[in-house]
Parts: sequence; structure tokens; C-alpha cells
Amino acid sequence: GRVAVLMGGTAAERDISLKSGTEVAKALQQTGVNATACDVKSVQDVLAVTEQYDRAFIALHGRWGEDGGVQALLDALDFPYTGSQMTASALAMDKLRTKWLWQGVGLPTPGFQVVSPSRPFDKGGFDLRFPVIVKPSHEGSSIGMRKVDDLDSLEDAIAFAQDYDTEILIEQWVTGREYTCAVLGDSALPMIHLKTDHDFYDFDAKYQSSTTQYICPCGLPSEQEASIQALVVEAFHAIGARHWGRVDLMLDENDQAWLIELNSVPGMTDHSLVPMAAKAAGIDFPELVRRILSMTLA
Ligand code: DAL
Ligand code: MG
Repeated sequence: GRVAVLMGGTAAERDISLKSGTEVAKALQQTGVNATACDVKSVQDVLAVTEQYDRAFIALHGRWGEDGGVQALLDALDFPYTGSQMTASALAMDKLRTKWLWQGVGLPTPGFQVVSPSRPFDKGGFDLRFPVIVKPSHEGSSIGMRKVDDLDSLEDAIAFAQDYDTEILIEQWVTGREYTCAVLGDSALPMIHLKTDHDFYDFDAKYQSSTTQYICPCGLPSEQEASIQALVVEAFHAIGARHWGRVDLMLDENDQAWLIELNSVPGMTDHSLVPMAAKAAGIDFPELVRRILSMTLA
């Protein structure tokens, strides 16, 4: 059948999505799939795709394309697509509700406070330790995020995040090491250890910096890696995600794992992490996208 690779969209991560979609379409073509990259910006664009194609590989990042909007539309049309469905997509795009849910089922995620229209920031009620990291709840690629070391800079960072969202998280900074773990089907791929000379793995460290180091295999003892991978698969299922995704996490100085977030349509650019993890498992990029696509037939 004909496969549409949905990319672009209208979110802040549009440019990243165009790269992901182009790479995915190219790789699918290499495996002999009749795939076309389609830049979609509206409901009409998606409806046109469903007329002309048989299945969709979703390579949209951020709001609308990764948050359940497109997924709900495709489900209503009974049109098969890769990745999580509406509810899990919406939860994963919402860092605040992801954390509430993980906390609710006893999974470890750093402590946090919420700033929203109904809960304005109140210095007196602030009870986290510095540093903290301030994040818009519904963004990706670290857009709008800032690490904060003192109360003086906190209000600025909140205002910066509020340019992107009305719900803001002030999250406890975890001192330690940063990792990410991809999920393919029901299994975790090898973890990647991210090392950056930035404060954290921010937009520039993700897409521009040549000094970011990606360490895979990640260097943890295999039993420790296996237990974190099991935690990641549990976190993925708690959200109700399907097919594939990527969970970002930290290990603190005592080697305790802290779940940060779930990406339901992780980046698939030539710099991206899921392809890197797949490669470490002996799965090349064309085989990776072929496997994800094949899950739409299950
Ligand atoms: N939000 C970006 C695309 C990622 O998680 O890879
Ligand atoms: Mg994300």
C-alpha cells in the first residue's frame, strides 16, 4: 500500500519534524515501501492524505501532531497510523499530567510545583531546593526551558516559559547523569548516556552542538541497565503508549532513576537518539522504520 509520512505541522518543533519526516520517508523507500513525505498543516491536509494513501507514519512533533489531535482524527476515519493513540499522546505531551500519573502508580519522577492561571507563582509557597528546572508543560525539544539556581532568576524563567504555555512546571533538578531509553514494541532498546557541556541537553545541545556526546552502550552494569529498562517499559505502559517512544530519565548520585518524560513521537533526524539506540541493538534505520510501520498491521 501507499504510505504517507506525516511531517511538518504547525508546532514550535516544525523544522525538526520536517527533518524527521524526510529521513523516515527516505528510509522506508530504501526498504521498498511506497512512501511519500507529506507536509501537513491543517485538518484538510490530513483528510487529503487519507484519500490518497493507505497508512500513515506519523513524524509530527509537538502540539497537534504529537498530542492526540491528528491521532483522534485518524482514528475517527479508521485510518491506520504509527505510534500512540489520542489519550496516551495527549498525556505524553503534557509533562505535568505525565508526572501526576507516574506518581499515582508509584513510579519515580522528580518533585515539582505547578504554575498556572489558577495557581500563580507564590514565592512564599516555594519549597523546592535549588537548582530547579522550569518548563512549559506542553512543549518539546527543550523549548522554553531554563535551569534556575536562585530565587532571583526564578520569576524570569517562569515568564520565559509562559511565552510557550499557560501551565508551567518547576521541577527539582536532579544532580547526576542524563539518559534516554527508546521503546520499540514492548521492549526497551539499549540506553544512551547523554553528556553535554551545556547546563542540560537543551535545544542547541540536541540539534546543533558538536560537543554533545552520545554514549551507547551506556556503560551501566547490565543488571542495572536491565532494571531501568524494565522501569521505562512500565512507565510507557502506564501512559498507555503503543508501538514506539522514548523515555528521558536521570540517574542521581545514588544511582536512583528518576523519570523525566515520555516522547510519543521521538525525533528521527540523522542526529536522533532512537535510531542510535536501534543501531546498538543491530537494527539499522530502514529496518527500524519498517518495524514501526509494520505495527500498524497488527
Ligand atoms: N521532541 C523531540 C523531537 C524528541 O523528543 O526527540
Ligand atoms: Mg519531549
